[in-house]
Amino acid sequence: MSDLSIETTQLTKKFGSFTAVNSLTIKVQGTKCVGFLGPNGAGKTTTLKILTAMIHPNAGQAFINGIDVQAHKRQALHPCGVLIETPEIYPALTPREALSYIAELRGIPAGERPDRIRTVLEQVRMTDWIDKRTGKFSKGMKQRVNIAAALLPDPDILLLDEPTTGLDPRGMAEVRSIVVDLKKQKKLIFMSSHLLGEVADICDDVAMIDQGKLLIYDTLERVIEKVGGQGGGVEIDLSVEGSPAVEQKIRSIPGVDHVEHVDTRTYLIRFSGGLPTQERLLSDLVAARIGLVSFKASSGMARLEDAYLNLIKGGL
Ligand SMILES: Nc1ncnc2c1ncn2[C@@H]1O[C@H](COP(=O)(O)OP(=O)(O)OP(=O)(O)O)[C@@H](O)[C@H]1O
Ligand SMILES: [Mg+2]
Repeated sequence: MSDLSIETTQLTKKFGSFTAVNSLTIKVQGTKCVGFLGPNGAGKTTTLKILTAMIHPNAGQAFINGIDVQAHKRQALHPCGVLIETPEIYPALTPREALSYIAELRGIPAGERPDRIRTVLEQVRMTDWIDKRTGKFSKGMKQRVNIAAALLPDPDILLLDEPTTGLDPRGMAEVRSIVVDLKKQKKLIFMSSHLLGEVADICDDVAMIDQGKLLIYDTLERVIEKVGGQGGGVEIDLSVEGSPAVEQKIRSIPGVDHVEHVDTRTYLIRFSGGLPTQERLLSDLVAARIGLVSFKASSGMARLEDAYLNLIKGGL
């Protein structure tokens, strides 16, 4: 069991009379990827800035691996790689030059810098561009260099603020696949986003905030199960046309909440009980001999979207 952790207790940040973060208490632990979701202005960036000691809270505390970030900034942030509102890389610099400068700032010994720079550029798949000027790079390539910079100290913990925002679909996919690779390297990744599909695809856990308050923190599956509207959904295709008799057979399977005949041979089934029900549903549908030829779970994104909208609605 890993002892990596990110924690806030009763964290509060006010800007004048406006409360951006409101008594936020959360503990994220282990090696996993946590999606930090919330609408615009929810307080995601503010929370990340407090966690990385860029700003001070009015009340409450933030800890990295149990060390108080405000009281012991250097020590607490030592295991962290951070990507929050990264300034533009000076366009005349190459990745090698920009990363050398950052490595020096981060206190990486001169003798280790060339190796670290090669390693991080490999991690973000930019080795071929090491000596090209960044001014000519696409946004996605620049963001990959920014991620490389965050990886320079070989961090165990990564705090990323919307790492794919502003990128085109290809740039987004590239950054996501880097995050997925990093996940495999036993790191704790805490990543803000307002892209539900992104979080459903790559995160293990989900924390949702709105108006500075934590609405829920749990595994992706449990968040979907707890607040995901009508629960899971699958779409099935039959080899024959549907009929009231077929519909009745599906309806009588335990756990099935709703059956919709959406096309001649296609039904949409909503069920509750999460993955265990989904698994049993498949075998029950086969056993019911209704001519099942395909069984497709509705996407994690649609189900997370349900959960998100339910929670945000509830918070208003
Ligand atoms: N320096 C500041 N001065 C005044 N208000 C601020 C400041 N920084 C943030 N805020 C306000 O605090 C609230 C939370 O902002 P924050 O940037 O944390 O939200 P966010 O969840 O990151 O939103 P987004 O998805 O748009 O990035 C917003 O209403 C914002 O206007
Ligand atoms: Mg933000």
